[in-house]
Amino acid sequence: MGRRFAELAFTPLVKQHQQLHGSRHLYERVEHSNDPGDHLGPEEQAFLRQRDGFYMASVSETGWPYIQFRGGAKGFLHVLDPQTIAFADLRGNKQYISRGNLQHDSRVALFFMDYPSQSRLKILGRASILEGDDEAARLLETLRVPGEKSPAERAIVIHIEAFDWNCPQHITPRYSEEELTRILAPMRSRLEFLEAENKRLRAASAA
Ligand SMILES: Cc1cc2nc3c(=O)[nH]c(=O)nc-3n(C[C@H](O)[C@H](O)[C@H](O)COP(=O)(O)O)c2cc1C
Repeated sequence: MGRRFAELAFTPLVKQHQQLHGSRHLYERVEHSNDPGDHLGPEEQAFLRQRDGFYMASVSETGWPYIQFRGGAKGFLHVLDPQTIAFADLRGNKQYISRGNLQHDSRVALFFMDYPSQSRLKILGRASILEGDDEAARLLETLRVPGEKSPAERAIVIHIEAFDWNCPQHITPRYSEEELTRILAPMRSRLEFLEAENKRLRAASAA
């Protein structure tokens, strides 16, 4: 964890609980770290480029937290520079909850999971919305995933304020269809080989 994440997440009440449970001295050190932890390094950038979805929390005008999933083919989330990520926001159920929330408060918490490697990355940032003008159209051209059928309504650009990796504890490894196909490929070819061999042997013994 870098200094900036601690500055944003460790509120006075959070610190009170750290104190109560004996972890305050450890986390106080993070608050004085030389590493601000607000620029994505090569590891974070590569991780984000491989994601096919993430969760985005926003804050409503009435103060309620709200989480929605954003997904797409790998590569739908773009790392524009070490402090900026962006994606094309596709048309969905037209509730526009995140859209309304972001107009009220640009702050977002993002949660990126990689189940097979049991890793997760948290990001705190501020979202800007580009919508309905030439600049938005130009950016959307670069963000859209080829072949995506849903129309992109707006570009969401997120300025990263802080990030933190979580430990792998309690993450059950899960695999997408694509990952399973890759993992099971040697088993599949072995099975095909054995089936063919079995067929040959049966034919030979019947003759
Ligand atoms: C036809 C259609 C129906 C949908 N229904 C739901 C739904 O009932 N609940 C949900 O969470 N997402 C649903 N989605 C996905 C959301 O529309 C999508 O995630 C969108 O980005 C929601 O953004 P918001 O929650 O910020 O308004 C639906 C999408 C489509 C295209």
